[in-house]
Amino acid sequence: MNPTLTTPWQNLSSLAVETGNVHMRQLFEVDAQRAERYHVKACGILLDYSKNRINDDVMSQLLALTDACKLAVQRDAMFGGENFNNTEDRAVLHTALRYQGKGEIRVAGQDVLPEVRAVRERCYAFARCVRNGEWKGFDGQSISDVVNIGIGGSDLGPLMVCEALKPFASGPRVHFVSNVDSAHIVATLKHLNPATTLFVIASKTFTTIETLTNARSARQWLLDAVGGDESAVARHFVAVSTNREKVTAFGIDANNMFGFWDWVGGRYSLWSAIGLPVMLAIGPENFDELLVGAYEMDVHFRTAPSAENLPVLLALLGVWYVNFLGARSHVIAPYNQTLHRLPAFLQQLDMESNGKGVRRDGERIAYATGPVIWGEPGINGQHAYFQLLHQGTALIPVDFILALQQAGTLPNHQRTLAASCFAQSAALMRGKDADEVRAELTARGMPELDIPAAIPHRVFSGNRPSNTLLLDELSPRSLGSLIALYEHKVFVQGVIWDVNSFDQWGVELGKQLASGIEKVLAGETDASAYDASTRSLIELALGR
Ligand code: F6P
Repeated sequence: MNPTLTTPWQNLSSLAVETGNVHMRQLFEVDAQRAERYHVKACGILLDYSKNRINDDVMSQLLALTDACKLAVQRDAMFGGENFNNTEDRAVLHTALRYQGKGEIRVAGQDVLPEVRAVRERCYAFARCVRNGEWKGFDGQSISDVVNIGIGGSDLGPLMVCEALKPFASGPRVHFVSNVDSAHIVATLKHLNPATTLFVIASKTFTTIETLTNARSARQWLLDAVGGDESAVARHFVAVSTNREKVTAFGIDANNMFGFWDWVGGRYSLWSAIGLPVMLAIGPENFDELLVGAYEMDVHFRTAPSAENLPVLLALLGVWYVNFLGARSHVIAPYNQTLHRLPAFLQQLDMESNGKGVRRDGERIAYATGPVIWGEPGINGQHAYFQLLHQGTALIPVDFILALQQAGTLPNHQRTLAASCFAQSAALMRGKDADEVRAELTARGMPELDIPAAIPHRVFSGNRPSNTLLLDELSPRSLGSLIALYEHKVFVQGVIWDVNSFDQWGVELGKQLASGIEKVLAGETDASAYDASTRSLIELALGR
């Protein structure tokens, strides 16, 4: 259904005109309770959303929008295993992968949980074997290094989690290769020993050209080290995929394959066997904690009233800016260094899910949908892109993310980190007006005559929105909750915009064209099918 036709949407359009530009400074001044009222805590994560351009009227209409768009019905449909991914006719059940309850989750009448648990146990058994040194390479040595070869959802999730949970790593070193530019795999393998290296070839479809190309090069690297002895492959290659046929056709024994299911989307797959590198790095017990944290967020999302529901609130605030106040991008600024790959992970999660231009029924959309998601660790961003957030012309909401405790932190560092994070959201919110700038410059002794010209450059308009997400600690459990929080945020926005958040047809055309162009570059066909620009680029690549 078209959300713009609902009453809350129309009310929000009016509210945007009436209140969308009221300065937050003023809102804080007149309401001593604002910070308390716009605070919610669940699953060890506190969301302070008071530094947003909202008031109770806006919030109540945003919340009404969830009813108008039948969020609860759609949420139950997804969790209940209905074919929620309508364009691929599949269920959407990454939540089943972390389910900790005693019930059943049925897809087409079949409880999927026994199989989910069985595959997980196989992964755990394998991870234990590698971690305790029982799994031997071709010359009897244990595994010291694991290289995950995958891309997109078969890379970003496990990579982000391995980085985030580095303080919990106690197994082999884990590396990730995704780019088909050989520089990536060459640099990764340079310092590794084939006798002690295990490759995890991760691909849901097992047809992804980048992954298969890297996997073939890895295989050759191993075979070169063993004089071409193919029997070494079984000790050094495992696959994670839904496609058994293609895995065996590639030369990986089905016994070395860990499966998952078509109802797990690539960007939602880190909870499945795609999490194998994480299990290898931090161990099954910590991986279990990650699942528990995600499950706790699932329960929160399903049961908490909308007004106290973290994913719902984050989603609604995003809709407010995108659809009513004209924001086209959204920054993710994690302050903890170990979360440095979170923005990249969220880019795929959010933009591949909600970067859509038609509704679920195929009707063209005339309102804005998923914003551009971008970011980098906040503290580095302060010395780079934050200038634009503070004084640029675009309205760009920010999510500040900070864990208050993290393993192995040095106290004085943590203090500076927290102070910087809090200072940035305060600065974005309050800004600095001309009078304040004048007073500062006068106090600093600037000649009175020079002050007028200096003021405009030093004024901060403020009124720039942000959420602050404070994690009690950075642990496997809280990370699980944080990731699930964003997954459900994306889901809620997809429901409001009425898009299918679980397909990704937009990535197909480029793949099709690349395979044709590769044939031209290989001299198998000519370039006549392509436009003049592409033809001339091909010619240049061919050195002609
Ligand atoms: O090209 C996009 C995409 O299909 C993503 O959706 C997916 O996560 C990624 O490629 C990798 O796909 P696969 O796991 O099948 O190799």
